[in-house]
Amino acid sequence: MKVILVVGARPNFMKVGPVYFALKDNSLFRPYLVHTGQHYDVNLSKVFFDHLGFPKPDRYLGVGSGTHGVQTAKIMIQFEKVLFEEKPDAVLVAGDVNSTIACALDAVKMHIPVAHLEAGLRSFDRKMPEEINRILTDSISQILLTPSQDGNENLMNEGISPEKIYFVGNAMIDSLKKHEKEAENSNIINKLNLEKDGFGLITLHRPSNVDKVENFKKIIKAFYHIQRSLPLIFPIHPRTVKMIKKFSLQDEFDRMKNFQFVEPLGYFDFLKLEKYAKVVLTDSGGIQEETTVLNVPCLTIRENTERPITITQGTNKLVGTDTEKIIAETDKILRGNNKKGQIPYKWDGNTAQRVVKVFKEYWKKSG
Ligand code: UD1
Ligand code: UDP
Repeated sequence: MKVILVVGARPNFMKVGPVYFALKDNSLFRPYLVHTGQHYDVNLSKVFFDHLGFPKPDRYLGVGSGTHGVQTAKIMIQFEKVLFEEKPDAVLVAGDVNSTIACALDAVKMHIPVAHLEAGLRSFDRKMPEEINRILTDSISQILLTPSQDGNENLMNEGISPEKIYFVGNAMIDSLKKHEKEAENSNIINKLNLEKDGFGLITLHRPSNVDKVENFKKIIKAFYHIQRSLPLIFPIHPRTVKMIKKFSLQDEFDRMKNFQFVEPLGYFDFLKLEKYAKVVLTDSGGIQEETTVLNVPCLTIRENTERPITITQGTNKLVGTDTEKIIAETDKILRGNNKKGQIPYKWDGNTAQRVVKVFKEYWKKSG
């Protein structure tokens, strides 16, 4: 079975990596890796190939940045050519980025079965571009690989046949478990003059937070207050860099004395910071999950999440963009008032093995 696995943007690498290696280890499968080039900076792309141990992709499509229409269309044009040439038996896409929907759409129109890793997640907020990508990808995929039971329920509520749905767990956590030791060996905490459990870690890149100046300003105001009692470190996403320039917000950051910007970090350094942060303030999807597994308090700067299990079972709490709320919830954590979490079922490091099992059963059934 020749399976094309698609990666494009940062979180894809951690999700697809474990499945790629599990398929490679099985003589029934021939994995073929396509990188769309949605993310192309070294520290958003190549660094993860190195850290996760990926070989060079079989194809690099080099599509780069653009508006949603341009980026999605460019990926579709390039990926369709790959499908014509390589004639795979299946395509696996992951998560909710533009590369996910673009490649799934190409494949389904050529009658190639699509497997969606991380299917079924819903924020129920259609203003999020990712929500559109999730709904559309799920509706055209033949194999829906869910990370949690809420995913199964969402898919069934949308009328998707239960026969297509497989609860396999969280593949991103496979990567986390596999690389825990290398992360522990990172010396990033010393390098940044921080102390274990003595800093807050920030990531921010959602358009709803950084493309809207009024929301971005409210969040920055909260950071200003928090850094007076807790050093803050912010590996900054290129979208956010662009928006700080566009809205002339650099001065607001410059007046914070206990605040460091760094370039986006490699996987090991980032995991190390995550593990030893007093609190993580983020709008990332994957980081809500990783903090739950690491048992680190996470405050999600969003009004909703497609990952409710990180709230019901994990260490995550939604704080929105309200300055006072962000400050108050951070204070609670600083006073030791932490949410006790547990690790969700099947977030155990063995998801990729379960995906391989699903694939074997699928092809046995379909002859
Ligand atoms: C994308 C995903 C988002 C995901 C995030 C992970 C979509 C719709 N969004 O958002 O779901 O959470 O990746 O990080 O797919 N840029 C660079 N260098 C790069 C890549 C991007 O400078 O290597 C800059 C460009 O100015 C670009 C902007 O960042 O316009 C946004 O990039 P884009 O891929 O469109 O979306 P992300 O915000 O990265
Ligand atoms: N990450 C990283 N370096 C960073 C920020 C994040 O290695 O500077 C990792 C993080 O550990 C997680 C993934 O990137 O595995 C999350 O990606 P991101 O937040 O970009 O995307 P999202 O999950 O929001 O789609």
